[in-house]
Amino acid sequence: MTKYLITSALPYINGIKHLGNLVGSMLPADVYARFLRQKGEDVLFICATDEHGTPAELAALEKNQDVETFCTEQHEVQKNIYQRFNLSFDHFGRSSSHQNTELTQHFCKKLMENGFIEERTIKQVYSVDDGRFLPDRYIVGTCPHCGYEAARGDQCENCTRVLDPTDLINPRSAVSGSSNLEIKDSKHLFLKLPALESKLSAFIDEHEAEWPIVVTSIARKLLKEGLRERCITRDLKWGIAVPKEGFDGKVFYVWFDAPIEYIGSTAEWAEKDPEHRNWKEWWYDPKDVRYVEFMAKDNIPFHTIMFPATLLASGEPWKKVDYIKGFNWLTFYGGKFSTSQKRGIFTNQALDEFQPDYWRYWLMANAPENSDSSFTFSSFAATINKDLNDVLGNFVNRVLKMTASKIGPAVPAGGEWTDVEKEFVRVLQNRIADYTKYLSEMEFRKALVELRAIWVEGNNYLTAAAPWTVIKEAPEKAAMILRLALNVIRLYAILSAPVIPETAEKIRKLLNLENEKISWPEDGLAEELKALPAGHAFNVPEQPLFQKITPETVADLCARYGGNPEE
Ligand code: 2FM
Ligand code: ZN
Repeated sequence: MTKYLITSALPYINGIKHLGNLVGSMLPADVYARFLRQKGEDVLFICATDEHGTPAELAALEKNQDVETFCTEQHEVQKNIYQRFNLSFDHFGRSSSHQNTELTQHFCKKLMENGFIEERTIKQVYSVDDGRFLPDRYIVGTCPHCGYEAARGDQCENCTRVLDPTDLINPRSAVSGSSNLEIKDSKHLFLKLPALESKLSAFIDEHEAEWPIVVTSIARKLLKEGLRERCITRDLKWGIAVPKEGFDGKVFYVWFDAPIEYIGSTAEWAEKDPEHRNWKEWWYDPKDVRYVEFMAKDNIPFHTIMFPATLLASGEPWKKVDYIKGFNWLTFYGGKFSTSQKRGIFTNQALDEFQPDYWRYWLMANAPENSDSSFTFSSFAATINKDLNDVLGNFVNRVLKMTASKIGPAVPAGGEWTDVEKEFVRVLQNRIADYTKYLSEMEFRKALVELRAIWVEGNNYLTAAAPWTVIKEAPEKAAMILRLALNVIRLYAILSAPVIPETAEKIRKLLNLENEKISWPEDGLAEELKALPAGHAFNVPEQPLFQKITPETVADLCARYGGNPEE
């Protein structure tokens, strides 16, 4: 049996993530993991915080914390938010773990042994007053091309020209503002990507037909341009030490150790539970593992080139990715969500406004799969009001209330299905087949269109069967209709669970089914729709599953988060 290893790009530690980060990796990975688990597959879903690098150091500095304390705190903050979103990671680790340290150093040693590492001396800017080397982007000065005074050492934001820190006029430290800078020689390790080019090209070839175009086109472009040696070490204090003489005080480049943390986090997962001690079965020469990675498009170069290069160069049989699900951008009113500029709505704020399933549903229905998509509060409100309230919520509330008030709070017996019911079940069966296919293919937008259509079919059936009228003349028949409708509610809880797990759980509670094992109804739907026997008690919801979002609320959200209620 195939086992599914699923990783989501590791959220960076420097601050709370926005909705774009969520929909670009963690959330769709969770929907996929939940779907596969429900189908009975063996799934390992891994994520972690990505904790090294200068942005973490600077964020800690800004909070007046040492970087380790900062990371420990921020890890908990992010972990808690993802729990509230019901992201079902098997483990949410930390790239600063001892497991990742050991693995990263192991890979480096293997790469050196196998001749894929080259040592070079390069010139680095040292800030005397900060007592540290400065990465290019933390040196600011005047752009020699356009005169912009706050140009960064890697690029001028104003004229977009690529720069070298030495090009800047009046360079100074972005950390302290000090202009007491020196150029020093510094030894670094470079990964010899050109030596791996043919292997990487073969690796991409192997997957070309299957992977999304956004993924293969980026990889192909990089290969076509020709790979260059890539520096994998940095003159920083915070990070994983480089296990080589003469490299004291240097650490690995954050992008070298971050993907290794997919493996590291699995090792952390194993440490928690002796039952998981064979964790290498997922990673080291596995025969039966399908490995799927989720990420936004800016991460694709690292996952199609850098990380596979590390694994290939090790000469060891580490598992390489089988499928990459890449995403475009979610924009906020057409513009960028920005952590640093605090633009858009962040994951913690989102949860303070509405229940997680509202967000999960809208984000998956509008996932930026084939192009960018734009978040607006009006679109959000319209989707929640129509799909969740009018379609799903209405069906559940209507059926439970009507059955309880007309017959009583237990599944009625009723007679046999007529052709109307048989046709309804046939239509559902087809739609479920499509929904299942789209989820298997990770075509999330299409899957959600189908899920909604499945809910709509229920309402259409109810309107056509009209049990509230039938009950006067033929109570037996009305009971049959409501029995089927109650079973359809159970079915909806099962089918909706990957996307809106909290709602699914609420529905299961209403049906007194919280202990029933959740499966996936593939064939034999007719039997599935008889699962709730006559006499099975249920509860009437005290309040509706969902609440509508009013135009006033939309206006208020726009005012607070900077949207336009007219858009
Ligand atoms: O883009 C980012 O936010 C990175 N922290 C993603 C890392 S993914 C993996 F390679 F660790
Ligand atoms: Zn410029």
